[in-house]
Order: sequence, then C-alpha cells, then structure tokens
Amino acid sequence: MKKEILIPREDIQKRVKELAGRISSDYEGREPVLIGILNGVIFFFADLIREISIPTKMDFIRASSYGSGNESSGTVRLTKDVELSVQGKPVIVVDDIVDTGLTLTHIVKGLKDKGAESVKICTLIDKSERRSCSVRIDYSGFRIKEGFIVGYGLDYDEEYRYFTDIYVLR
Ligand code: PRP
Repeated sequence: MKKEILIPREDIQKRVKELAGRISSDYEGREPVLIGILNGVIFFFADLIREISIPTKMDFIRASSYGSGNESSGTVRLTKDVELSVQGKPVIVVDDIVDTGLTLTHIVKGLKDKGAESVKICTLIDKSERRSCSVRIDYSGFRIKEGFIVGYGLDYDEEYRYFTDIYVLR
C-alpha cells in the first residue's frame, strides 16, 4: 500500500488554532467539558485543548465500532465511559474523524441521557462518503469525501498513528 500526504502538519496546526479560537469565543465566560473519544483523538485533543484560551475540563470515552482493518462492525461498544459528571454542563465531544456517524450518534445520546446541558461536536476530519447517521458537526477541521487516511492519531489496523502529518493510503 502506498501513502500520499493529504494534510501537512502546518495546515493541521493552523486549523487547530482556528477551531480553538472559535470554541474560546463561543464559550466565553463558561467552562465546557471536552470529552475526547480515544484512541485516535489523542494528538488533536492535546493540541486543541492547549490552544483554547478559556478554562476547560477534560475527560475521555473509549468507543469501539471497528474490528481490525477498515470495516465498521456497525455496533458501538463503550469500553470506558466518562468519569466526570456532565449533569448540567456544556459538553464538547472531540473526535479525530466522523465517518458513518454511528459512534458520535451513540455517544451524544448517552451524554444527553446523563443530563448534559448541551452537547456539541468537534472533529478534525469530517468524512462524508459513508455517513449513515445524520450528525450535526459544530466544529469541523477538514472535510473530505473519501479515502482511507492515517496519521496524527488515525490508524490502519493500529499502524501509523504516530505520523505527524495526515496521509491517504492508496
Ligand atoms: C474511529 C474514530 C471515530 C470513529 C468514527 O475510531 O476515532 O471515533 O472511528 O467512525 P464512525 O463515524 O463510522 O462511527 P475507532 O473505533 O477506529 O478507534 P480509534 O479511535 O482507536 O482508532
């Protein structure tokens, strides 16, 4: 399999700053809880939260909807849930990629059921081709139609997460 650069690190950094700026102004005077969806989100989450200029809290969910390889199994399983209380809190769910939308649909419902005051979605990559659940994405870094992408946290069968740029596999 060949890899071609899709989004260089400089473009990622610039876009992360822009998203952080929007979040900082939208939540001015409040303290949102940012909830990262492990594992792919780690670099995006770490970069984003440090560029946000208002106080935030952080927690993580581990959701598994994929087996090995790149095919969705169609079911979402939480192997780690939030530990902070989200009752009455403004929540921003942060993920590296929205693909079918299944994972975030399940997670947003769970957080609303726990009494979150509001739940917004921030994703680095909004990939539209296989979308099967309609999800409202409030903060989106890059929109792509198709392609299997890796790097900056995104994996192919657990490989390539550590790349600092984002690549498409051909
Ligand atoms: C990826 C990604 C999202 C989800 C998106 O996670 O991080 O959470 O898939 O896919 P969907 O919109 O089709 O539900 P994955 O389950 O591959 O785990 P990972 O973050 O550890 O790579």
